[in-house]
Amino acid sequence: MRILLLGSGGREHALAWKIAQSKKVEKLFIAPGNAGTGNCGENVAIGVNDFDKLKDFALENKVDMVVVGPEDPLVNGIYDAFKTDGRTNGIPVIGPSKQGAVLEGSKDFAKAFMARHNIPTARYQTFNGTNIEEGLKFLETLKAPYVLKADGLCAGKGVLIVPTLDEAKKEFREMLGGMFGNASANVVIEEFLSGIECSVFVLTDGKNYKILPEAKDYKRIGEHDTGLNTGGMGSVTPVPFATPEWMRKVEDRIIRPTVDGLAEEGIDYKGFIFFGLINVDGEPMVIEYNCRMGDPETESVMLRLKSDIVDLFEGVANGDLADRTIEFDERAAVCVMLVSGGYPEAYKKGYAISGLDKVEGSIVFHSGTALKDGTVVTNGGRVIAVSSYGKDKEEALRKSFEEAQKIEFTDKYFRRDIGQDL
Ligand code: AMP
Ligand code: GLY
Repeated sequence: MRILLLGSGGREHALAWKIAQSKKVEKLFIAPGNAGTGNCGENVAIGVNDFDKLKDFALENKVDMVVVGPEDPLVNGIYDAFKTDGRTNGIPVIGPSKQGAVLEGSKDFAKAFMARHNIPTARYQTFNGTNIEEGLKFLETLKAPYVLKADGLCAGKGVLIVPTLDEAKKEFREMLGGMFGNASANVVIEEFLSGIECSVFVLTDGKNYKILPEAKDYKRIGEHDTGLNTGGMGSVTPVPFATPEWMRKVEDRIIRPTVDGLAEEGIDYKGFIFFGLINVDGEPMVIEYNCRMGDPETESVMLRLKSDIVDLFEGVANGDLADRTIEFDERAAVCVMLVSGGYPEAYKKGYAISGLDKVEGSIVFHSGTALKDGTVVTNGGRVIAVSSYGKDKEEALRKSFEEAQKIEFTDKYFRRDIGQDL
């Protein structure tokens, strides 16, 4: 098979690494890719939202399947763009339709969907410029802290957790006033849930599904979960509280009703579903849906997927996922993210990265890197993910921290407490 993978982050390098191991793959293209994905296949300089160019490329290069990494092109309708074009409708796109991607693209839609299908989630209401007073009253019925969510996509920044009622009222008005532009024209106010978070991933053909290894990610820049939110500073799989019993609750109350609900509502969904869950006194509840894999969860989850991922993708495309097998590696896997000093605020790019060739026994996934005159340089806030196996998470983390020391670039920073809260 000839596969075109879309995206340019650590998630996509990890997917490319896994796809390239498949015996079914003859050629892998990555658009646009990064300095690391170039070692798994051929990078192609086309942006993930340039659907016309992607379709032309797929046709000219006899691509058999498109795998979508990030949410942006999904929310913009890449699945539909291929499907509704007579030239490309025979090329399966692994990722939901535009309608399915609304599970991530609109928090209000996701909450209403969960309400329709009795999927456990925080109590909520959605408001806009026409019912501000009602929103303020709803806030008064809730206990601190207050959770305010911009309805639309905000590159992970659209959720505010506010300690006092006065501040919540102020932020609520500001959100509706355009704090996140059009994305906060509607604002979801919801009850605060207290617990530890866990990311659960499934691959679905619209009817059947396979559950992938679960993971926990670490979002804050500082150790012990302090400081600003980032794209993710590391991840760990398995998650100790995700016992078989807990995962059975997740499957019965959340996964199956979601997949069945999408089918009942006639929503075309053939791809990954990422369930952002929280464990509230032993009961799983949904914080959010995403229509793609997680980053940096993919950089540990792919290590634990023993099965051929392309065989699973074929199952998604053909609608016979139920006949495919999925096997996990029994070992633990972790990823530790090396980031640019200053991130997630202002940081510099273009520093040379050395020592990548000294890493032994860990797997290096490039997140924000580029090739400049033959040298790998920093090209983003999150730069390199160092992923490792271990008999348990402690062993895997020791390995990643050890190998992380060998990689050098100016102002490198990483969290040394990944996994310690579990
Ligand atoms: P989201 O973009 O929906 O994932 O929200 C970002 C982060 O805000 C989540 O990962 C949680 O840590 C937190 N969060 C969102 N909703 C809630 C909630 N209802 N209760 C507690 N924390 C929440
Ligand atoms: N790791 C969280 C996300 O990918 O959204």
